[in-house]
Amino acid sequence: MKPFLILFFSGVGNTKSVAEQIKNGIAEIPTEIYSVEKLPQDFSIENYSAVIIGTPTYHSEPAQPLMNFLEALNPCRNIPAFVFTTCGLYSENCLRTLANECLKHGIITVHFASYRCPATDGILLTPFMECWFRSEKNLQSRIKDDTATFISKLKSHSKAEIPKSKWYAPLNYPNKMLGKATTFPIYLHKNRCIKCGKCQKNCPKNAIEITNGYPTISKAECMNCYRCIHHCPALALSLSKEKAVEKVWEKENLI
Ligand SMILES: Cc1cc2nc3c(=O)[nH]c(=O)nc-3n(C[C@H](O)[C@H](O)[C@H](O)COP(=O)(O)O)c2cc1C
Repeated sequence: MKPFLILFFSGVGNTKSVAEQIKNGIAEIPTEIYSVEKLPQDFSIENYSAVIIGTPTYHSEPAQPLMNFLEALNPCRNIPAFVFTTCGLYSENCLRTLANECLKHGIITVHFASYRCPATDGILLTPFMECWFRSEKNLQSRIKDDTATFISKLKSHSKAEIPKSKWYAPLNYPNKMLGKATTFPIYLHKNRCIKCGKCQKNCPKNAIEITNGYPTISKAECMNCYRCIHHCPALALSLSKEKAVEKVWEKENLI
């Protein structure tokens, strides 16, 4: 049997952590796990018998690096998929958009799930709201159950599903439109910067240049995933010119 593939994009770490938990839940089947940022050179989706695809929700939509990867993918024979998203509050039609793009390339959703995780944007924008720091209750057991359900659906050749369109989706239009239009600049607090260059090495868009050891972030290139802020070991980057970040997460894998 061909192995399973887990493919994800993760800005800060939530989606990566869910992907890894799914991998642990399918220990009996050989499974390869990759971020779309780091695919092996000889990668071909045809080498896999099933795919698990995950993305964070950014303004109600899947992350662009994952969509770019799918859009460039040659259509393949039908491969069954478990499609998932992580979100801070509510993923609206993100899963539907992702599942529809998958379908265009022969990746057929047979199971899908949305997981509420710490809100990587909310924590920075309104850090006084403790709710942003929490995941949904029983997240780990839900991931385990969904993984088992996906495998059982594969065995029973269950009918493909596409997440239903949400009738209340227009209520989220301000978030969708304003969110995309309003990109917050990221400020460097020079007195904290230890010139480690981690922000530049980690940036999924190569949007950071280093001059005299200090990072400069190109607003035009930045996709606002906030990985650089969350993963800065010195808490030297923030969304406020005046105030540096006081608290992000205790550890890098957030859940
Ligand atoms: C720019 C940006 C936009 C976001 N938009 C939404 C959103 O529309 N709805 C939502 O529920 N969460 C939203 N979030 C929260 C993330 O979806 C959530 O924290 C996710 O788990 C982050 O995954 P990651 O750690 O893999 O990047 C947003 C986060 C960022 C950084």
